[in-house]
Amino acid sequence: MDNKEILIICESVHHGNTLKVAGAISEVLNAKLIKPANCDMKTVADYGLIGFGSGIYGGAHHEKLLDLADRLEMQKDKKAFIFSTCSIRVSAMHKTLRDKLLKKGFDIIGEFQCKGFADYSFLKYIFGGTNKGRPNKKDLQEAQVFAKKLQEQI
Ligand SMILES: Cc1cc2nc3c(=O)[nH]c(=O)nc-3n(C[C@H](O)[C@H](O)[C@H](O)COP(=O)(O)O)c2cc1C
Repeated sequence: MDNKEILIICESVHHGNTLKVAGAISEVLNAKLIKPANCDMKTVADYGLIGFGSGIYGGAHHEKLLDLADRLEMQKDKKAFIFSTCSIRVSAMHKTLRDKLLKKGFDIIGEFQCKGFADYSFLKYIFGGTNKGRPNKKDLQEAQVFAKKLQEQI
């Protein structure tokens, strides 16, 4: 990869869970971390590897991230990775974003998902939410192992 600059675009609105994962990954990769609202075509052009992450809402990534993927131009020689936090881990939850990024020509070199504390809807009334304390230390260590594997690929 000629351009080794790394950007992470993260939307984390429920409890800041995904932002913790983004922080752990960016520490290893020395990546710049921004929100989708602060990302435009020019920003993307400056980076060789781009990470896209958010919590999962209604079975897919946050709509701001999905909208951004729709607005991006076709890419050439641009690598990407996807990450998320969720209540119940199901890899199919990455499909909507993955399909959009593939359609835009990104080469997806890795995906990471872990549990995050959730107390939306009925979960609020069951023991005050689920996945308390997640992402925890172990989740963040696993995120950093994932980041190191990405490093080997660039
Ligand atoms: C409105 C809403 C919808 C959600 N839908 C799902 C879902 O479909 N599947 C799931 O596993 N988690 C779901 N969650 C849980 C979040 O994905 C989880 O709490 C995540 O860690 C939130 O990340 P954040 O704190 O970075 O926003 C939902 C949470 C909210 C608030």
